[in-house]
Amino acid sequence: MTARTPTDADQRHGTFRSVAGRFPTGVAVATSRVDGQPIGMTVNSFTTVSLDPTLLLLCLSRRSRLTSAIRRAGVFAVTVLAADQVDCARRFALPSRPIGLAAFTGIPTCDDPATGCTLLRDGVAYFGCVAHRRYPGGDHTIVLGEVRSYGLLRPSPPLLFVDGHYATLQTGPRFDGVHNGRLTRPALTLPPESYESADPHPRGRASGGVGDQADR
Ligand SMILES: Cc1cc2nc3c(=O)[nH]c(=O)nc-3n(C[C@H](O)[C@H](O)[C@H](O)COP(=O)(O)O)c2cc1C
Repeated sequence: MTARTPTDADQRHGTFRSVAGRFPTGVAVATSRVDGQPIGMTVNSFTTVSLDPTLLLLCLSRRSRLTSAIRRAGVFAVTVLAADQVDCARRFALPSRPIGLAAFTGIPTCDDPATGCTLLRDGVAYFGCVAHRRYPGGDHTIVLGEVRSYGLLRPSPPLLFVDGHYATLQTGPRFDGVHNGRLTRPALTLPPESYESADPHPRGRASGGVGDQADR
């Protein structure tokens, strides 16, 4: 097979990505449904937009299966990943991953109380949204979600993405729910029954090592 010669556009896109990559982000798995089956996709375009009404947005490739799933289901959820969930970030960025429960094998999950979309229980926070508006954004679609549920999951540091690499915080706030003597865990979390009854995993695990490969 002959390698394609990079075009000027390829070079411009590469430069744009590496300059934009200096802006660090968190990493999340956004989920929705296709014919009642869960679909998940790794995203870092998550941004909160408005408090009243409470809105957030995702920028999704127009070609992604999640974009059409959200268009049809009208709902989606976002799980913000913890520093030790690099494997999840990688798994849900693979184009070869399946739609359905098989994609979530081995990952503790539960349903978002508002939308029923799948959440990754070992994440740090979640949001459940009704799709509010969609805007064209070049080769992406900007999906604005009206937040119907949100809360904290595990008191762990979040996973970061910068310069095309996964990273973790070297310093920062404590993640045991108390910061500067103030309780940082808000009252609004998953209803106790949805995580105490079903969760065989102890919470508050130390974060594991993260990889250092260019993943996007
Ligand atoms: C850290 C990271 C963040 C990503 N963020 C986004 C994003 O915000 N929007 C997007 O469209 N794709 C994003 N991607 C790429 C998709 O996860 C990936 O292309 C996925 O395979 C698309 O799903 P599809 O196979 O249904 O097209 C990201 C990938 C990584 C590794």
